[in-house]
Formats: sequence, structure tokens, C-alpha cells
Amino acid sequence: MKLNVVAFAGLLACLNADISAAADVRYSTWMAWSIMNRGQGIMTGNGGSSEPLQAGFTQKALTGILDKYPNDPLAPQFRDYVHKSAASVAQFMLNATHDALAYPMDRLSNGNAILSLSNGPKTNKTAAFTSAAAALRQSIDLNRRNAEGGFWYFVYPNWSYLDGMYSLAPFYALYTTGGSDNPESAKALNEIQFQIDLIYKHTHNESSGLLVHGYDDSKTAVWADRNTGASPYVWGRSLGWFIMALVDTVELLPKSACKERNHLLKKYNDLASAVLRAVDPATGGWWQIMNEPGRAGNYIESSGSAMFVSALLKGARMGYLKNDSLAAEARTAGVRAHGYLTDTFVTKNETGLLDYNGTVSVCSLNSTASYEYYVGQPLLYNSVHGSAAYILASLEVERLGQ
Ligand SMILES: *[C@@H]1O[C@H](CO)[C@@H](O)[C@H](O)[C@H]1NC(C)=O
Ligand SMILES: *[C@@H]1O[C@H](CO)[C@@H](O)[C@H](O)[C@H]1NC(C)=O
Ligand SMILES: *[C@@H]1O[C@H](CO)[C@@H](O)[C@H](O)[C@H]1NC(C)=O
Ligand SMILES: *[C@@H]1O[C@H](CO)[C@@H](O)[C@H](O)[C@H]1NC(C)=O
Ligand SMILES: *[C@@H]1O[C@H](CO)[C@@H](O)[C@H](O)[C@H]1NC(C)=O
Ligand SMILES: *[C@@H]1O[C@H](CO)[C@@H](O)[C@H](O)[C@H]1NC(C)=O
Ligand SMILES: *[C@@H]1O[C@H](CO)[C@@H](O)[C@H](O)[C@H]1NC(C)=O
Ligand SMILES: *[C@@H]1O[C@H](CO)[C@@H](O)[C@H](O)[C@H]1NC(C)=O
Repeated sequence: MKLNVVAFAGLLACLNADISAAADVRYSTWMAWSIMNRGQGIMTGNGGSSEPLQAGFTQKALTGILDKYPNDPLAPQFRDYVHKSAASVAQFMLNATHDALAYPMDRLSNGNAILSLSNGPKTNKTAAFTSAAAALRQSIDLNRRNAEGGFWYFVYPNWSYLDGMYSLAPFYALYTTGGSDNPESAKALNEIQFQIDLIYKHTHNESSGLLVHGYDDSKTAVWADRNTGASPYVWGRSLGWFIMALVDTVELLPKSACKERNHLLKKYNDLASAVLRAVDPATGGWWQIMNEPGRAGNYIESSGSAMFVSALLKGARMGYLKNDSLAAEARTAGVRAHGYLTDTFVTKNETGLLDYNGTVSVCSLNSTASYEYYVGQPLLYNSVHGSAAYILASLEVERLGQ
């Protein structure tokens, strides 16, 4: 849909005094306000194993809005909501052993907001955030590993997923490095690079440059490649998590970490080039299964595509792409894809909220991991895996002044 700012402001004036007060309504803030009004990204403990990631990703999207628009009239509400979401997760994360056993690595996506909220004057409220941040940090050391030292993503023995890096690397970078050089910092930097390299090595396809969803280090899963353990398909959203992890981690590395920075940037550049080659020429979006473009049943998926927009545009903005022509290509592709996503998946609900369609539900390697499995998973309406990614993508487009 095309945003009609005037019509939107008028409509919302009847619905909610708060958002209508925003002089300058944008897709990013409108979608964030919608997630908040739908009550999403709050952990209840009864919503299944994807609750921690929904909460963590919501916090990251709202934090992105606060960074870009600190004086927005809705900023106080967004700030309160980040607090509410982080508090809803923190209460479940106070025991490091339990964290490592009961939750996927996704739990760590909450760590950045929880850690930030633990700073400042010590009160009983910040004490819970401090304990949760420490427990989450300790749960990294307790996370189960395969024979090569790679972290299991969840309860499945010896399986690692690309998805886990989005939660691990930016949290570990923020928690331990803190911009300084100390022995803990060296350990964290080594671990981050080691985990990223190991999963990259197992999942990388030489000819396309893309990464498949994950690998089984035991190479015994029904889907596992007998030599590498790799799963067969490049799942858009899992690669989206991974490339966002690279960009967000580089941003948090201490200035002195030149070696690690260059190492991660090399991977980011290679992946960004591969993602640009994999774009669907007809729409500008990216396929649910990226190594089977155009195959019957395959489709342009709205969460992975928004993640690529965000990672490409943010990398270009931060100067992470190695030359101007690659950065220009990333900007053109990002803006075009964002336009397609907006036209195709964004709709204005009769309630005044902005809705987001076309996001695939969870795809797990605890399955046949077949083509039919990935393209047969249900499409969700208003999944925060899609709508929060769309916020991050929109923020980058707005930073370009478009
Ligand atoms: C922490 O969790 C572990 C694993 O669930 C459990 O065995 C242990 O008793 C818990 N510790 C406390 C202090 O609750
Ligand atoms: C804060 O926590 C301490 C120690 O647990 C407790 O004694 C005190 O009553 C708490 N204060 C408030 C205001 O809840
Ligand atoms: C996982 O790897 C370990 C070696 O670290 C091996 O002993 C174990 O059998 C593997 N588990 C499965 C289920 O393959
Ligand atoms: C790498 O990708 C190409 C193109 O999608 C495919 O033909 C090839 O089989 C893949 N290689 C491996 C080792 O999976
Ligand atoms: C920029 O980088 C891309 C990707 O590696 C490369 O193909 C291209 O030749 C480079 N362009 C210039 C002008 O150096
Ligand atoms: C509007 O939102 C409500 C509540 O989320 C939902 O039930 C309804 O299907 C949405 N309407 C449309 C047209 O999508
Ligand atoms: C959401 O997408 C599905 C699948 O493309 C489509 O069938 C459905 O009508 C869409 N819903 C809305 C409200 O646009
Ligand atoms: C893995 O899949 C099996 C078979 O569908 C199911 O019974 C099991 O609950 C799944 N494991 C988890 C942790 O969801």
C-alpha cells in the first residue's frame, strides 16, 4: 500500500490521540505502534519456544526507532514498551542453567535491552535486569556444544542453525567487550569469531555464496550432507538473521578489534554480494527457498526479504561495503525491495493499525527439511518476525530520506 500521511493522521485522530500527535507519520513508527497495540513481543511462558525471539526482536526494532527518532511524540511509549517486553523475559531468565537447557539460543536476543536496562541507578527493578543479564551471559558458557565446539541451537544434539548467531553475537559483543581490552574481551571476541566461522564453513555453498539453514555435526540427521552435515536448503529468514548478526556485531566491536572487524566484514561483503545476486529480478524481493528460485510452490517471503533490506542498507550506511559501486547496488536493491514489500504485504487494518502479511511461520530442522516442508509451512498474518524486520528496513529507507 502507499502511505497517505494526511489520511493516516486524520484517521488516527479519531482512534488514538497519541499517534495522531506525531506530526510526521512514517511506516516505521506506524508499524511499531501497531505491534505495541497488538500486545506482541511480550513473553508469557505459554507461547512456545519462539516467544523469546519475538520479544527480543521487538525490543531491537523499537530500540532502532528510539535511536533514529528520540524525540518522537511516541518515544516515551516505545521506551516503556521495550521495558515491559524485556521485563517479561527477564523474569524467566534468572537461572543460567535453566536458560541454557530450556530455551533456544534466541533467548540471547533479549540480552541487549536487558543489559541496557540494568545500567543506571540501582533499584529493585534494575536488580532483576542485572541478574537476568548475568544469567544470560553465563548461559553462553553453559550452552551445549558439538564435538567441534559449535553451539547447539536448541535441544537437538549437535545441530547448529544460522538463526542462533543473531542472538548470540551482538549480545556477547555488548556484554563482554564493552569497548575495552581485557582478557574477558579477548575470550568473547575469539568465541564470536569461532562460532561464526564454524557455521559459515559448514553451511557455505561455493558456487552461490549463500548459506544453508544449518548443519548436524554428527552428519546423521535425515537431511544432513554426509560430508559437511549441511541441511539442503537456503532458507531466506535464517540467512536474514545471520547477515543482520554480522552488521549488528561489527557495530558493537571495540575500536581496537581491527582483526575481528575485518574478518566479519569480509564475510558480510561476500554474503551481501551473494544476496544481491539472489534477488528476484521480477519483484526485487527474495525467495523463501533462495537456492530454488522460481520453482513451483516457492514464493517471495516477507520477513527474510525485509531482513535483507535492513542488512544491505545498514551496511551501506555504515560504510561496511568495500566500494562505492557495491554500496550503490545495495542501496538500489534495498529501496526497490522495500517498495515491493510495502505494496504487497502492508495493509491498513480497519482498526487503524498497520498489518504485515506473508511471513512464514517457524521452519525447523526438526523435520524432513525437504523442499515441500519449507514451502508448505503456513504463512502468518502479523508475525513480528516479519513486522519487526519491516520496521528495521523502513528505518534504513527513512535514513536515506526516501
Ligand atoms: C536452576 O535450573 C536448574 C536446571 O533446571 C535446576 O536444576 C536448578 O535447581 C535451578 N537452580 C535454582 C537455584 O533454582
Ligand atoms: C527491595 O529489595 C529488598 C531486598 O530484597 C527488600 O528488602 C525491599 O523491601 C525491596 N524494596 C521494595 C521497595 O520493594
Ligand atoms: C553428538 O556428538 C557427540 C560427539 O561430541 C556424539 O558422541 C553423540 O553421539 C552425538 N549425538 C548424536 C545424537 O548424534
Ligand atoms: C551449491 O549450489 C549449487 C547451485 O544452487 C548447487 O547446484 C550445488 O549442488 C550446491 N553445492 C552443494 C555442495 O550443495
Ligand atoms: C566493487 O566490489 C565488487 C564486489 O566484490 C566487485 O565486483 C567490483 O569490481 C568492485 N568495483 C570496483 C569499482 O572496485
Ligand atoms: C484487522 O485486525 C484484526 C485484529 O488483529 C484482525 O482480526 C482482522 O483480520 C484484520 N483485518 C484485516 C482486513 O486483515
Ligand atoms: C495474506 O496473504 C495470503 C497469502 O498470499 C492471502 O491469501 C491473504 O488474502 C492475505 N491477507 C490479506 C488480509 O491481505
Ligand atoms: C521434534 O519433532 C518431533 C516429531 O514431530 C516432535 O515430537 C518433537 O516434539 C519436536 N521437538 C521439539 C523440541 O519441538
